[in-house]
Order: sequence, then C-alpha cells, then structure tokens
Amino acid sequence: MRALPVALRALLAQLAALAAAAPLAAVLGQSAAWTPGLPGLAIMAGIAAATLGHVLRLPPWWLPMQLLFLPAVVAASTLHLPAWLYFAAFAVLLSFYWSAFRTRVPLYLSGREAWDRLLAQLPAAGAFRFIDLGSGLGGLPLYLAGQRPDGEYCGVEVAPAPWLISRLRAWRAGGCVRFLRTDYARLDLSAFDVAFVFLSPAAMPDIWRKAASEMREGAMLFSLAFPVPGVPPDLVLEGESGAGHALYGWRMRRDIFPAAAQDFRHSVESFR
Ligand SMILES: C[S@@+](CC[C@H](N)C(=O)[O-])C[C@H]1O[C@@H](n2cnc3c(N)ncnc32)[C@H](O)[C@@H]1O
Repeated sequence: MRALPVALRALLAQLAALAAAAPLAAVLGQSAAWTPGLPGLAIMAGIAAATLGHVLRLPPWWLPMQLLFLPAVVAASTLHLPAWLYFAAFAVLLSFYWSAFRTRVPLYLSGREAWDRLLAQLPAAGAFRFIDLGSGLGGLPLYLAGQRPDGEYCGVEVAPAPWLISRLRAWRAGGCVRFLRTDYARLDLSAFDVAFVFLSPAAMPDIWRKAASEMREGAMLFSLAFPVPGVPPDLVLEGESGAGHALYGWRMRRDIFPAAAQDFRHSVESFR
C-alpha cells in the first residue's frame, strides 16, 4: 500500500469510509433509538477516513484533512451555492496546482530576501545559464535577470496558470527570461551553470539524482529550505527567517553519483 501515491491512499480511505457510512446509515435509520442525520454520518465517515488514513500510513498532516473533508462537503451543501461555482473553483485550483497530487509540490513563493542570497552566489563574471526548476510565478528569474543581465535565465513550470502568468511578466519585462511549461524531469540540465529549486522534501532525492548525473562539473545546485537527505551541502546560507529557510548549495563534481550518470538522462529538450 505504501507504494501507492499519498493522494491515492487518501482517496481510498475516503471511499472506504463512505462505503462504510452508507450501510451504517441504513441500519441506524431502522433503529428508533438514534438517527444520526447527514451531519452525524459525515462526522462518523470523517473519523473512519482519518483512522483508515492512519492505517494506510498517510503523513500526519493529512489526517485532519481526512477527518474534515466529508463534514466540510455536507456543511458546504447547506449553503446552496450553484454547481458551476464548485466547478469554477475546481478549475482555478487545478490550473494553479495541476499535478501537485503526483509531485507533492504545491505553489508557494520564495521572496526577495532569499533571492538576494542567491544573487550573491551567481558566477562573478562572464555569461552563465540559470534555471529555476518549478518557477511558480517567475519572480526569481525575473528579479535575477534585472540584477545581473549578463546571465541567461530560464524557468520551467508544470502548472498552466503560474506558467502563463510568468510568460506575461517576462513579456512585460522585455522577454529577458524564457519560461517553459513542462515537467523539469524532461529537461537536460547539462546546459546550465546554476540550477535553483524550492520544492519539497519529497522531491529532493530525485532532484539530486538528476542534477548530479546531468550537471557538468563545477555547476551549482541551490535548494531553498529543503536539503538533500544524506548529502552534505557545500554551502549553507541562513536567512533572516532562520534555519528553516536556509539556502543550500552543492557544487557538482565527477565523483558524486558516478553510477547514476549513465542511466538518469531523460533529456528530451535541450537549451543548447
Ligand atoms: C514552491 S513553488 C516555488 C516557486 C518559485 N520557484 C519560487 O521560488 O517562488 C514550486 C513550483 O514547482 C512547480 N513544480 C512542481 N513539480 C514540478 C515539476 N516536476 N516540473 C515543473 N514544475 C514543477 C509547482 O507547480 C510550483 O509552482
């Protein structure tokens, strides 16, 4: 079961809880002693979903969501909102969060203070290529391009709405940054001197394998807030908001991950 993605395990727990709630409602409905009503059933199903979520080893922060989901659905139904509003809200959320259920990396943004720490680490002289893997609304590469116009900047973003917003911002700024809408796993990182990520702990092992096997010797990988498990960084820059928002940096060397170098090439697109 643990091999299944977290979102799928959460869905299974909800469906099983719903399936259990229906016969329970029928049984209780025949008993004159106590009729729980829809809110009561939703609460019981929520408790069952959270318990099942625990059994299916969902991360702890999923359990309150499991508990509250069905009661929230029942509560929302009492507002009698038009159905299209739910669909519109779903479409907006989908366009911003897209495959977050798979990547486990939602949209949240880094800020100027972290960008300045990164800016100070860019190659001191000469042309260089920079990429933000999971570029969100594009703020970081646009900012760096404004500060260091001698570099070439690129952002890659899988979710349509943030990507579109980035494209519009780049167009307004004069086209100084290129934004691609694709999964960063499909890119070849060998063309880049500096790669930046602000993702999640779940994404870091794969990012490390990819960077270590594709980036050339001397290139730098930076990660905001999330270290690579088991790989000590060459650089840790703590910010004003403390260790939780440290900027970690790794310089690529040939002796890291030699075995992965051969088989980790997903290179579909290249920037060369
Ligand atoms: C936490 S946000 C960071 C945004 C931006 N880099 C910043 O620092 O403000 C992570 C972004 O990565 C995107 N993302 C997650 N997995 C991705 C993937 N496999 N390929 C491309 N983008 C991805 C998400 O859609 C989200 O917008």
